[in-house]
Amino acid sequence: MVELTLPKNSKTTVGKTWPKPEGATNVRKFKIYRYDPDIGENPRVDTYFLDMDKCGPMVLDAIIKIKNEIDPTLTFRRSCREGICGSCAMNVDGINTLACIYGLDEIKGDVKIYPLPHMPVVKDLIPDLTHFYAQHASIMPWLETKTNRPAKEWLQSIEDRKKLDGLYECVMCACCSTSCPSYWWNGDRYLGPAALLHAYRWIIDSRDEATGERLDELQDPFKLYRCHTIMNCAKTCPKGLNPAKAIAEIKKKMVERTL
Ligand code: SF4
Ligand code: SF4
Ligand code: FES
Repeated sequence: MVELTLPKNSKTTVGKTWPKPEGATNVRKFKIYRYDPDIGENPRVDTYFLDMDKCGPMVLDAIIKIKNEIDPTLTFRRSCREGICGSCAMNVDGINTLACIYGLDEIKGDVKIYPLPHMPVVKDLIPDLTHFYAQHASIMPWLETKTNRPAKEWLQSIEDRKKLDGLYECVMCACCSTSCPSYWWNGDRYLGPAALLHAYRWIIDSRDEATGERLDELQDPFKLYRCHTIMNCAKTCPKGLNPAKAIAEIKKKMVERTL
């Protein structure tokens, strides 16, 4: 479990405390980060109470209930509600995770919810992922081929396909990159664990014909080599992936091609 710091613009103040639900006997307290750059006030932490006998089991169930029934101004991203789209990533109880697959029963005491750390905040629990997505685009996240297209499809052996396991499942939630100290300090130039995991996913794909170019692009003191194997990325990934291992494999490929 990785304890993380508050996001940028973190001069957080105590915000509004909403009333407890009347007649409820199973009440839980939620402390949620609120920030709206348009109103020019410091971020604050609002306090909400929910009747847990009328709430679903996941963190996302709770914040949807708060938005629907208490405070419609609470803002967050979500779509699939089953850990597939990656959009509900946030910092829950000090851990970067997907709110839709993180159970409330995994949290002791009050539930504290913040946006992913060390990212600019668009509003409330929504980080600005523009730079994160641009870094992903920079690694050419597609199959690059030079030979003529096959009549039907690019074939791959079962063994080669297996090499993509543990990589293709990434949902680009940014939990790993925003838990990485190297990315916090050098995120402008270090690609971070998510983009590098995707880079390796294409480097290792037997059908891809741009391995040399991909490695050339990463041969840079910052893009790849700011990873110091701190392993926060692997500890926090809600899909159980290991970006640190993928990064180590890229470094190995860099060495192998010099031999
Ligand atoms: S292993 Fe590398 S990428 Fe993962 S958190 Fe540590 S420094 Fe960041
Ligand atoms: S590797 Fe895991 S934590 Fe990182 S973006 Fe992919 S799914 Fe999210
Ligand atoms: S809503 Fe899609 S991953 Fe949580």
